[in-house]
Amino acid sequence: MNIDRSRTHAPRPDKTDGLGSLVADAARALAAVSAAPRLDAELLLAHAAGVSRSRIVAFPERDPPAGVEARFRAVLARRLDGEPLAYIRGRKDFHAISLRVTPDVLIPRPETECLVDEALAIGDSRPDCSVLDLGTGSGAIALAIKRARPSVSVTAVDASAGALAVASANARALGLDIRCLESDWFAGLGAERFDLVACNPPYVRSSDPCLDGDLRHEPRRALDGGGDGLDAIRVVLTEAPAHLAAGGALLIEHGHDQQTDVVALASGFGFRIVTARRDLSGLPRFVVLQVHEPRPQ
Ligand SMILES: C[S@@+](CC[C@H](N)C(=O)[O-])C[C@H]1O[C@@H](n2cnc3c(N)ncnc32)[C@H](O)[C@@H]1O
Repeated sequence: MNIDRSRTHAPRPDKTDGLGSLVADAARALAAVSAAPRLDAELLLAHAAGVSRSRIVAFPERDPPAGVEARFRAVLARRLDGEPLAYIRGRKDFHAISLRVTPDVLIPRPETECLVDEALAIGDSRPDCSVLDLGTGSGAIALAIKRARPSVSVTAVDASAGALAVASANARALGLDIRCLESDWFAGLGAERFDLVACNPPYVRSSDPCLDGDLRHEPRRALDGGGDGLDAIRVVLTEAPAHLAAGGALLIEHGHDQQTDVVALASGFGFRIVTARRDLSGLPRFVVLQVHEPRPQ
């Protein structure tokens, strides 16, 4: 068999301005702002080119199509200015779903996937249970649970109309039927009770420099938990007992250095601590609580 080598796509070592070279140059610059500079560079170039990352990785010798290099340089400048990759791409993978994200919503974090796993494990014994995602943002927790357990009825609440619009759009795009409600925590829920309430509240201390640093692109309302970071958690602990069904559970995510305080607060509010968990990095990250049932007389 005669193979014409001039027509194959073998890499050309003398070539310096192909996709691979754009990625390498960008990765060097991104090392100043990103923990994963090469991955960021590949994803930004894929975004600018409108192709998958695997195409960028598979064909480093190819020239960027017309217009792609200019679009790449524009998104690279945003990333170098510290804008999160997820906002630039407009998407974030969470649990087993892909979510649209905008600056109206917190970018869902991997540690919150642990809270979803715990909620699913608790819900396994009750396939038709009712779930409330309090402070839903992009809809991450609500939609991950609904996708994994379609028979569960899920309500997603947020005080931000902008966030709820994103959560509703994500639900539609994923074909998942959840109820989205604008509410100040439980205020809009009347006397409704739920088997499971999952909440990733704002818990960063107002004085934390991250709020004006790495986190400055994300909504302040989603992050700022007041002086000790526990303002929202106090409200949720106060109001939750009136909205938990008998035997229901409340899952609350918190900062890595807040577990002792949250456990103490929860005990003071009459909760039993079912479990206190760490995230995948080994940091204390959330608690599972139940209201003390009255002892039989
Ligand atoms: C840390 S973010 C969590 C977003 C999402 N659940 C996640 O895990 O990615 C906290 C969310 O609580 C919402 N929030 C803040 N104050 C609220 C309030 N008073 N009532 C309801 N939601 C509130 C914010 O808008 C934000 O979407």
